[in-house]
Amino acid sequence: MEDQLNKLKEDTEQKIREIDDLDLLQELKVAVVGRKGELTLILRGLSSVPDEDRPRLGKMSNDIKQHLISLIDEKEARLKQETLSSRLMEERVDVTMPGQIPETGRIHPLRRTLRRMKEIFEGMGFSVKEGPEVETEYYNFEALNIPAQHASRDMWDSFYLGRDLLLRSHTSPVQVRVMEKEEPPLRVISIGKCFRRDAVDASHFWIFNQVEGFMVDEGVTFGDLKGVLLNFAREMFGKERRIKFIPSYFPFTEPSAEICVDCFVCKGKGCRSCGGSGWLEILGAGMINPAVYKWADGLREKPVYDPEKYTGFAFGIGVERIAMLANGIDDIRLFYENDSRFLKQF
Ligand code: FA5
Repeated sequence: MEDQLNKLKEDTEQKIREIDDLDLLQELKVAVVGRKGELTLILRGLSSVPDEDRPRLGKMSNDIKQHLISLIDEKEARLKQETLSSRLMEERVDVTMPGQIPETGRIHPLRRTLRRMKEIFEGMGFSVKEGPEVETEYYNFEALNIPAQHASRDMWDSFYLGRDLLLRSHTSPVQVRVMEKEEPPLRVISIGKCFRRDAVDASHFWIFNQVEGFMVDEGVTFGDLKGVLLNFAREMFGKERRIKFIPSYFPFTEPSAEICVDCFVCKGKGCRSCGGSGWLEILGAGMINPAVYKWADGLREKPVYDPEKYTGFAFGIGVERIAMLANGIDDIRLFYENDSRFLKQF
């Protein structure tokens, strides 16, 4: 029996050393010291050994049992620790690795410019009104003193949706729409998209935005128009930017002017952004033609827009050109190409 016990001890020690799997170790434990394990079976045989050997063999068996159990427990603890360490290594998060930055949206440079323009005019007491993008010929032309056969219709080469309907070519129709409903004093801006069949180049596109502004009250003069536009230009571009008024013609204003800002790209020398002139035209303006008041009063029983009493000015600003000047952008097409390399810069 002694030999049997020693052999079991050595074999089991050897197996414990070799095992590197927790399940196998558990199986070995059951096979050796479990209720039906090898050592338990040997212990049961103690009753048949001579009386004088029994205490010694009994003690020896118990010592071997305790020894093996403690070896197995030790090994189990080590295997558990190793498993944990290797899992920790495998699942380790390297906090020094660069993370993935999610793509975030941002405000389009045109929208940003529009907001700034709105802020500046609201600061001067103008309130915002809206008009439709699909407009009738009446509001887009007739009511602005541009009759059907008038040569100046060529200035606004339009997209027609039917005989009488078109995509508005400017925001000026809002002037008459507002004046039809409201009486002076008026200080209004209207912001929105316009459409023209213009040849596309660095400063022209077939869709663009305008900010229309107009003021009607007693005693409004061209000086007020100049003051409002100068203040706008200074707020928008800073004091160093130069602007100039050039006499012009619009059927709905008299006198009329085109207002230009010195080109930011060539500093006035002449380049492709300004068509070689050194100046970029940003808006058209003038004193509201009394003929427009007649159209505005057209539906009223008693006219209110008496040109002897009221005078007013109006202007229409190209928003894309303002955004180009304000941000140093040299081609209008960039606003509409949706190239994220361009948009991410703002
Ligand atoms: C008009 O549209 C007039 N309705 C402006 C006006 C309003 C005059 C009130 C008097 C009183 P004009 O066609 O010049 O005017 O256009 C005004 C501005 O819109 C231009 O100065 C320019 O900045 C912008 N613009 C015109 N066409 C285009 C285009 N194809 N692409 C980009 N911007 C344009």
